[in-house]
Amino acid sequence: MTMNVIEAMETCTAMRYLKEDPVPREVIMKLLHAATRASNPGNSQGWEFVVVEDAVAKAEIGAAVLQGMGPAFANRPTGMDGVQARMYQGAEHLATNFAKVPVWIVGCGRKVYPPHAPTDVFMYSTIYPAAQNLIVAARSLGIGTCFTTFHHVAGDTLRRVCRIPDDVHPSVMIAVGYPERKFMPVRRKPLESVVHWNMF
Ligand SMILES: Cc1cc2nc3c(=O)[nH]c(=O)nc-3n(C[C@H](O)[C@H](O)[C@H](O)COP(=O)(O)O)c2cc1C
Repeated sequence: MTMNVIEAMETCTAMRYLKEDPVPREVIMKLLHAATRASNPGNSQGWEFVVVEDAVAKAEIGAAVLQGMGPAFANRPTGMDGVQARMYQGAEHLATNFAKVPVWIVGCGRKVYPPHAPTDVFMYSTIYPAAQNLIVAARSLGIGTCFTTFHHVAGDTLRRVCRIPDDVHPSVMIAVGYPERKFMPVRRKPLESVVHWNMF
């Protein structure tokens, strides 16, 4: 049973605590179908998705993530509020348990737009709407996800282990699994503080 899309967005919190239960490939394909319905420049569809479910691959990439994230976790800011502290704690849990996450979806871009002079900006801006579609679709199906940028610290290992070609650029790594915790309403700044009608 799927849910209303607005309701899914309202409660699409980053799920950093995931069960180890496998997520069937048919379900992953549903998420990727949703991802590839996204808007993209000129319908160039410069995206590729690497689905990492293999235990050995996850262990190797996870070790690189943990090593790369070590300094960020060790030197986390002091005086954080409860929400920020829980976010760091959750991110550390996710990195530490990288290999236990059933599926990691690596969203990658190809530099293909505009055809006469492709740019990095269009490449990265192609993959993010797709990733957002994916996490909202997952939420609607009761599946937890967490956007990450772990490829920033483990890009070389990721490329080697998953044999990602040089012209394909990992741009987001999304953890996917059944949630161990409850989805909660997302907390955002009041709308009035960020909306400007006609003039800033
Ligand atoms: C571009 C981007 C990068 C992110 N990177 C990470 C990350 O590396 N690790 C992580 O645990 N969460 C990451 N997140 C999730 C955010 O931290 C999360 O969405 C934010 O704290 C708000 O929490 P909420 O979505 O649960 O309301 C990322 C989100 C985005 C959009």
